[in-house]
Amino acid sequence: MNKELKTIFSAVQPSGFLTLGNYLGAIKNWIGFQENFKCIFSLADLHTITVLQNPKELKSRTKELYALFLSCGIDPKKSIFFIQSQVHTHAELSWILSCFTSFGELSRMTQFKDKSQKHANNINAGLFGYPTLMAADILLYNTDIVPVGADQKQHIEITRDIAKRFNGIYGEVFKIPEEFIPKIGARIMSLQEPEKKMSKSDANPSSYIALLDSPETIIKKFKKAVTDSENEVKFTGEQTGINNLINIYSSVTGKTTAQIETEFEGVGYGKFKMSVAQAVIEHLKPIQEKFSYYISNEDYIKACYEEAKEQALIISERTLKKVKEKIGFVS
Ligand code: TRP
Repeated sequence: MNKELKTIFSAVQPSGFLTLGNYLGAIKNWIGFQENFKCIFSLADLHTITVLQNPKELKSRTKELYALFLSCGIDPKKSIFFIQSQVHTHAELSWILSCFTSFGELSRMTQFKDKSQKHANNINAGLFGYPTLMAADILLYNTDIVPVGADQKQHIEITRDIAKRFNGIYGEVFKIPEEFIPKIGARIMSLQEPEKKMSKSDANPSSYIALLDSPETIIKKFKKAVTDSENEVKFTGEQTGINNLINIYSSVTGKTTAQIETEFEGVGYGKFKMSVAQAVIEHLKPIQEKFSYYISNEDYIKACYEEAKEQALIISERTLKKVKEKIGFVS
């Protein structure tokens, strides 16, 4: 890997399957970054256990998701793509950073407030300390840029605060990262409630397209997609069903909204929905084909995450060693 390149770090939790929203809003960008950045990506399974997981499901989901990311175009030769729990430095640095993070600032995290409402019977210390683990993920790799959804911005801000605080005491140990919140495709909304983000945790499966949905399912879901009564394919930029469909169509075809408006002038919503469905099916087809190949080649998948783990260890152990020396731990 080229040393001059800036480092990108990002991660997703293996907490469910991937939706079209995840793909267009995040993963597709990751694929592009591989050409111009040193990319480090992770499946953040340590974060996932802040909510109780079924062991068997967590394991198979993590492997499946790993295979799916490769299918989407994460190239193990270009990126380091590892499974967080396999790299011990993350939990270790997280503990250290938690001693430089205050109760008050963690209490102010909106995600903590949301999640503790949602999981009121299991508000564990891991959920509370979640941002220090995320800070560890990022800071271990001298990360320059962290591409994330807007909902994670606060976590990058606290990462910077923690890093600066530590550097203030011990000298320049951590690089201060910046977030990058992509605009295009970033806001793929629910097909049922277009004012809400498309989410895999939505109770209504018609609200999202899963990356592995069959063509029949995709058609059915787009047919059911909520639109207004205008019946005109016109982009206003508002958070409406039709704008969301136009966004989706634009993201998978690369066409501009103006081109789309011309293409569908005088065509009603029904026909447009079918065109969106077809375009999405075409877009997902090669991914789904690769997925069936990878998932039946478990040895290959394993070789990829084992290799990535070694590479992640080399970089992150270097940072952790520096941190421990600064603090005064006996080496
Ligand atoms: N918390 C992130 C999410 O739920 C996932 C994540 C974990 C992450 N560690 C990270 C994202 C480090 C960016 C950088 O979306």
